[in-house]
Amino acid sequence: MSSTPPVGNGKITVPDILGRKRHPGQAVSPEHRITCLTAYDFPTARLLDESGVDIILVGDSLGMVVLGYDTTLPVTLDEMLHHTRAVHRGVHRSLLVADMPYGSYHTGVSDGVANALRLVKEGGAEAVKVEGGERRLELISRMVEAEIPVMGHVGLTPQSFNAFGGFRVQGKTPEAAEQLLRDARAVEAAGAFSVVLESVPRELASTITRELRIPTIGIGAGPDCDGQVLVIHDALGLTAGPTPRFARRYAELGEEVKCAAREYCDDVRAGRFPSDAESFHLPAETGAHKATKR
Ligand code: KIV
Repeated sequence: MSSTPPVGNGKITVPDILGRKRHPGQAVSPEHRITCLTAYDFPTARLLDESGVDIILVGDSLGMVVLGYDTTLPVTLDEMLHHTRAVHRGVHRSLLVADMPYGSYHTGVSDGVANALRLVKEGGAEAVKVEGGERRLELISRMVEAEIPVMGHVGLTPQSFNAFGGFRVQGKTPEAAEQLLRDARAVEAAGAFSVVLESVPRELASTITRELRIPTIGIGAGPDCDGQVLVIHDALGLTAGPTPRFARRYAELGEEVKCAAREYCDDVRAGRFPSDAESFHLPAETGAHKATKR
């Protein structure tokens, strides 16, 4: 099996990600494309870090794929901190980005900056992600002033679930496309080092990618972005129910887990597990009758 080697072997930093941006006329080579996957726990983070992924995102998708909520809205800052700390313990090379959950920056800029600082100081995040465009200009600028690198997120912003009336592709009308372009420009102007484009038409994502000086990271935004992100549970086949059309499944771990658990239950019920080799034994000089007495 062949794979594209990651650029360099050292720690990935925010300037490295910015340096991957290809500008019009510059050649795009495979190693410039940014790879990002989500993780929510230590073992997954360690495996993804060792796989060479550039960015590990502790997304608030945590709420839906790990905690069983219907949307990301109930996720709390304490839950994000708990999972970010676990991921941090498994990450050595990838850049670690943590999502700001709903409510952690919606009550004011100062609250947002204070909560982002907690994700960095207590969680070990190297950057935070914030949903929203023009209306987050001041917040993102203040975070950047506080030395917190920020990844923006525009298009389908799941924390706007109630405002949007569901999860829908964004930017489909000329007016909505114009607004999305303004949102992406605002995120860049505020000082973000990258921006996620979620569920937007390929053509629009391509235009935004050409317009911006910071990398775009797409999810459901076509192949012309500077990078791609997937929710790890979607990519590994661990999500309950159908996965979104844009989420390619690279494994069917859900089926593997069920097969393994069924086999284990069959073995236990049939008395095949544990075997003698999987059992501990008393030292040879200790008689079996002494063991039964204990
Ligand atoms: O929460 C998340 O996992 C995300 C990604 C889908 C970008 O925001």
